[in-house]
Amino acid sequence: MAKFMIRIATPADCADILRLIKELASYENMANAVKLTEKGFFTLIFFVADLLEDGFGEHPCYHCLIAEVPKEDQAPNGYTVVGFAMYYFTYDPWIGKMIYLEDFYVMEPYRGFGIGSEMLKRISQIAIQNRCCSMHFLVVGWNTASIEYYTRRGALDLSKQEGWHLFKFSKESLIKLASEE
Ligand code: ACO
Repeated sequence: MAKFMIRIATPADCADILRLIKELASYENMANAVKLTEKGFFTLIFFVADLLEDGFGEHPCYHCLIAEVPKEDQAPNGYTVVGFAMYYFTYDPWIGKMIYLEDFYVMEPYRGFGIGSEMLKRISQIAIQNRCCSMHFLVVGWNTASIEYYTRRGALDLSKQEGWHLFKFSKESLIKLASEE
C-alpha cells in the first residue's frame, strides 16, 4: 500500500466512525456493547447517544483522527476510511491536563504500514500542543499484541505498576444514587 492520509474527522465521517467503533468492539468480543447510533434516536426507555451531536455539536465530548487511503487502495467493500483514533481531553488533579485515547483501530488489511504509528504521532503532537502531561488508555488483558505495541513505544502498565482498578457506576446505579435522599 503506497499512501495514506491522517486527518481530523468531520461530521461526514460519523458513519465510518461508527462502523470502525463496531469493528473494534467485535475485535474485543464486545460487539453487543455498542449502543451508539450515527444520529441518535429515542427508544421507549432511553435515549441512544448521538455520535454526530456528541462529537460535532456545541460542546464536543470527543475528537477523532481519521486514516484514509486513496480510491485505488480502497477496501473490497469500497471503504476508504480504514482507521481511526478517538480521544478527548481530561484532567488529573495531580498533574493537570491529560489526553485520553479511547479507541485506536486500523482495519486488518491495512495494518503494519505505519498508519497506527502516524496516528499516535499526531495525537502526541496534539497532546503536547495542548499542554497535556500524559496520555491514558485502557487495553483488555488478553490483547497482548496491542499491549506489546504500546509497551514497545514506551507505555507503562499502571495496573501492574501502581495497582489501579477501573470501576464504573452503571446507568441503573446512577439513577439509584441520584434518587437517594
Ligand atoms: N498486521 C501488521 N502488524 C501488526 C499486526 C497485524 N495484524 N498486529 C500487530 N502488528 C504490529 C507489527 O508487528 C508492528 O509492530 P512494531 O512497529 O511495534 O514493530 C505494528 O503492529 C505495526 O505498526 P503500525 O503499522 O504503525 O500500526 P498499525 O497501522 O498496524 O495499527 C493497531 C496498530 C491500531 C494497534 C492495529 O494493529 C489494530 O487495529 N489492532 C487491532 C485493534 C486493537 O487492538 N486496537 C487497540 C485497542 S486499545 C485502545 O483502543 C486504546
